Amino acid sequence: MIKKVNHIAIAVKDLDQAATFYQDTLGLPLSGIEVVAEQKAKVGFFRIGESSIELVQPAEPGSPLDKFLQTRGPGIHHICLEVDDIEAEIKSLVDKGVAMIDQKSRWGAHHSKVAFIHPKSSNGILIELVELPKDH
Ligand code: CO
Repeated sequence: MIKKVNHIAIAVKDLDQAATFYQDTLGLPLSGIEVVAEQKAKVGFFRIGESSIELVQPAEPGSPLDKFLQTRGPGIHHICLEVDDIEAEIKSLVDKGVAMIDQKSRWGAHHSKVAFIHPKSSNGILIELVELPKDH
């Protein structure tokens, strides 16, 4: 079951520089910057009620995010939907013929489990599914 929009992610070239707008100008609290090795990205979350804005910066040249920035420039990178059971959700989507980038979940930020839907199945927008750890 899909529960809500967890976050909207914006690709940036320099997270620290971009963070000043969200933090200082918009006044949103920054809830932690971390490097997600599996996605070769440095990420920072700004909480807005039950949702967040995530800034994502490539952690390595040549990573998928780096290529995204080079071809499309900074902007919305993905929308993340929170689900209660990610493996069940992936199976259900695969059964419906949806193209998945991840056929099984992998580790995301803050010990969550994530999987991405290919944009060709979702009208050009990359969609991330996230299952939060049960102790959250
Ligand atoms: Co995300």
